[in-house]
Amino acid sequence: MNIYNLIRPLLFKLPAETAHNLGLCALNLAAKTGITSLISKPKSAITEVMGLKFTNPVGLAAGLDKNGCAIDGLAACGFGFIEVGTVTPKAQNGNPKPRLFRLPEDEALINRMGFNNLGTTNLVTNIKRAKFHGVIGVNIGKNLTTSIENAHLDYCSALKDVYGVADYVAVNLSSPNTPDLRHLQFGDELKIMLQTLLNERENLANIHARNVPLLIKIAPDLNENEIKQISSTLLEFGINGVIATNTTLERSNLQNTSYRNETGGLSGKPLFNLSNQIISQLHAQLGNKIPIIAAGGIVSADDALTKIKLGAKLVQLYTGFIYQGPNLVRECVKALNLR
Ligand SMILES: Cc1cc2nc3c(=O)[nH]c(=O)nc-3n(C[C@H](O)[C@H](O)[C@H](O)COP(=O)(O)O)c2cc1C
Repeated sequence: MNIYNLIRPLLFKLPAETAHNLGLCALNLAAKTGITSLISKPKSAITEVMGLKFTNPVGLAAGLDKNGCAIDGLAACGFGFIEVGTVTPKAQNGNPKPRLFRLPEDEALINRMGFNNLGTTNLVTNIKRAKFHGVIGVNIGKNLTTSIENAHLDYCSALKDVYGVADYVAVNLSSPNTPDLRHLQFGDELKIMLQTLLNERENLANIHARNVPLLIKIAPDLNENEIKQISSTLLEFGINGVIATNTTLERSNLQNTSYRNETGGLSGKPLFNLSNQIISQLHAQLGNKIPIIAAGGIVSADDALTKIKLGAKLVQLYTGFIYQGPNLVRECVKALNLR
């Protein structure tokens, strides 16, 4: 029985963010009471990337569990790894509501959440409490009140806070919902960011006797020249991985008329091709030197396979999971296992 098919129509009657919060609470409760054992899990298929062992190559993308409050429930849905965050050093409210919109005709979402989260201290407590033994990535960002010139200081402080509990740290330079954040993907801003974080990681690696991989998460709204420049900087600094991609500002070919002009990042099916172009261009530059983790519009097992064929080592789901639930995770793992 597919439990999610029963629950989804009820959740979709509620405003998107209310349904999101209720879903996370329910998952958390289900994990605590053991009900999640009813969800059938995909067979594991250990994949080693960046020196980490992933139970399977299908992960949860950042932003769904920003505070790490439902890690065990989400793990029970079959994910091989879970990326929590984006977390900022201090708690912040994010943008005014409504800020999350469903576009069911397009199997898409538009969000302008703006890094609503409870801060690093709360996240670290939640990760320590979780029983999940798989890979946990922590996605970090800057507080809204920190200027873009001082952004590297916030990222550095977040890195310090989460280092002890993270299997990898993803540096989010690509949310469209924090003013000017995407500027950090380019030129000297990117170099200052990477140098600061790598220096800090060297200190932390000595303190914790563990080298935590650092990944950069990029936008889909980049041209080929920008991808070349970013790739060359990532290679120069020896970054351990790249997550491609975040949500897009693009709005072409959407069926939905109610929300398509809402400000924010578009995710789900309409992002698939754009995101794939970025993966191909990245792979052409990086080869096998820096692993690519692919996110963006995976709504079927074939989509996950396509991303791997384009050069990704791992994939992540968000919007497809909202529309299809754990079944999509299982289907994707099965398809990637059969490769
Ligand atoms: C509601 C929502 C919130 C998100 N929040 C974050 C975030 O905090 N940090 C981040 O790096 N990506 C965030 N993302 C982007 C996703 O992690 C993912 O990169 C993107 O949605 C593309 O994947 P998808 O098409 O499977 O959803 C968010 C996406 C959605 C839909």
